[in-house]
Amino acid sequence: MCGKPISAAEAARPARIRLGPADLLGDRTLMPVAAGDVHLVLIRDGDRIVAAERACPHEGADLALGRCSDGRLLCPRHLAFFDLETGAVSPGWSFRPLRLFPVEQAEDGLWVRLGGGG
Ligand code: FES
Repeated sequence: MCGKPISAAEAARPARIRLGPADLLGDRTLMPVAAGDVHLVLIRDGDRIVAAERACPHEGADLALGRCSDGRLLCPRHLAFFDLETGAVSPGWSFRPLRLFPVEQAEDGLWVRLGGGG
């Protein structure tokens, strides 16, 4: 938690939103998805799946066009990368971390918890 006040729109969102079937990603490592009015990128990182805000916090590049490897997401525009555990940006950059959201892999599908973001 970052201590940032919650907006009225954030407070009105359900805590848990179904993204699609459990196999939604198929063999892809990145996929754009929407959770209500929130645009996310779904990322396969080894055995786990995580969701992140889709727009890069630097200048808004589409992170669904990036690449994921070794627990990091690479931005396609300026090639900064983000740690998929913490959201921290690579050394040499001074903008805020990437917002990450936990994804639950359940029998009835993939679910995201938007309240888990920073
Ligand atoms: S827009 Fe992503 S690093 Fe610049």
